[in-house]
Amino acid sequence: MSHIPVLLNEAMEILKPRKGEFFIDATFGRGGHSEKILEAIGKTGALLAIDWDEKAKERNSKLLENKNVIFVNSNYAKVKDILKEKNLPKADGLLLDLGFSSDQLEESGKGFSFKKDEPLIMSYGEDGLTAGEVINSYPQEKLEEIIRNLGEERFAGRIARNIVESRNAIPIETSFQLAEIIRKAVPGGYERGRIDPATRTFQALRIYVNGELENLKTVLGDLGVILKSGGRAAIISFHSLEDRIVKNYFRDLKKSDKAELLNKKIITASREEATANPRSRSAKLRGIILK
Ligand SMILES: C[S@@+](CC[C@H](N)C(=O)[O-])C[C@H]1O[C@@H](n2cnc3c(N)ncnc32)[C@H](O)[C@@H]1O
Repeated sequence: MSHIPVLLNEAMEILKPRKGEFFIDATFGRGGHSEKILEAIGKTGALLAIDWDEKAKERNSKLLENKNVIFVNSNYAKVKDILKEKNLPKADGLLLDLGFSSDQLEESGKGFSFKKDEPLIMSYGEDGLTAGEVINSYPQEKLEEIIRNLGEERFAGRIARNIVESRNAIPIETSFQLAEIIRKAVPGGYERGRIDPATRTFQALRIYVNGELENLKTVLGDLGVILKSGGRAAIISFHSLEDRIVKNYFRDLKKSDKAELLNKKIITASREEATANPRSRSAKLRGIILK
């Protein structure tokens, strides 16, 4: 199933794109949010669409044909540099819809999903560290730390030990292989069957390989350079580690009187959306407006 945009109307409520404005969708994906933004800013507005995954360009090529849309295949941590390189002004709005898309889960062939047998890559971009390299070469203590901190996995120690024992016998090359090793490492009845035991470890590896928390901190730290006065940012996150970072940066900006929060209470998916799109259940939206 193609990616369904999450908290679409809620994000538009925060961003309030208006005719003629310049917006950045820094996690273009399939362009679900971009479509709405483009509709609102109209032909006189402009949209900078960024995605680290070069395939994103093909997922909504029709939208990217618009003359007032520029697509850049890059890491959003570089938004500040992209604006400079392309000679673009500060923006009226920025959207970040973090993590990966359903398209990537289902058809990237990069091992994001433990439900498909694929090589362990997990990077959004085409080069850099792969999950397979981490799994097969990192010391046990480092693996345990990654799985505990980025997966919030309480059986990180047992999982890391089983990974190292298994790889000593045979290299761990695919997502099925890794998922089995994880399932065997945790006690029976783990999570009472609510989630697959491999979920947290796969999340940890994806976050680590892509430096996701560092990228998020970089772009948040650059907000004052990316957005003009009166510019809005909306950030949709999918787990507590990301949301904590966003919450703290926004709180600090407010404390230093550089911005106002656009929602005091965290915005989550309505019951209808959560039923229609299970992916939206963990989504959290925060918005801010610069002074
Ligand atoms: C949840 S999807 C976005 C979906 C999009 N809003 C839509 O409605 O179709 C997240 C996208 O962000 C991209 N991404 C993740 N980290 C990135 C980064 N650091 N820089 C640029 N793109 C990134 C992923 O490749 C993925 O396509």
